[in-house]
Amino acid sequence: MRIGLFDSGVGGLTVMAACKRLLPRASYVYMDDASDAPYGEKSDEEIISAADRCVSALLGAGCGIIVIACNTATAVAAPFLRAKYTDVPVIGLEPAVAPALAAERGKVLLLATPATVRHKSYPPRVIVGAERTLASDVERAYGCPSALHALARRTLAKYRGYSAVVTGCSHYAHLSPYIHCRVYDGADGVARRLLAIISGKAAPL
Ligand code: DGL
Repeated sequence: MRIGLFDSGVGGLTVMAACKRLLPRASYVYMDDASDAPYGEKSDEEIISAADRCVSALLGAGCGIIVIACNTATAVAAPFLRAKYTDVPVIGLEPAVAPALAAERGKVLLLATPATVRHKSYPPRVIVGAERTLASDVERAYGCPSALHALARRTLAKYRGYSAVVTGCSHYAHLSPYIHCRVYDGADGVARRLLAIISGKAAPL
């Protein structure tokens, strides 16, 4: 079964890497929707149309499972996609806030795009960092460790009083090696869900 993933850029590659760790022999098609990037500052309607175009292209390429390798598109477009494409499992990427809160005693810093956080409210132990340009900054810095390191340092310097970071945008997972506290990411959860669906142990959402 061919697995189709999409994101507005290089962010979703971190999700595909997590999927490949659990399912190395599966066949993957990755769609980098650069023409609609960045998703995070767009309206719901724009994000839904972009996500819809991606899913339709991936289905056209023969994919039988869709992974939304993007927190923003999941937060905004997953209900629409699941209602429209009822014949294919559509797996979304959620920020790992619940596991972080369960494991940490102090506050956790959730970094995400404005579009992702406007759809949810969070408990007081979550410091919400809505980052306007960070996904585009990561896109430019991708492949350059010193630029990614500087970006992580500059971003985290704006926040205080947290013991862990939740990367609530798949682009930000590229900063994880440069974050010097515990980091919680949703990509492994996506990979586990994919494995469960493929092996028949979970019903599609
Ligand atoms: N990588 C995406 C996410 O997980 C989208 C970032 C963007 O295009 O703004 O939210």
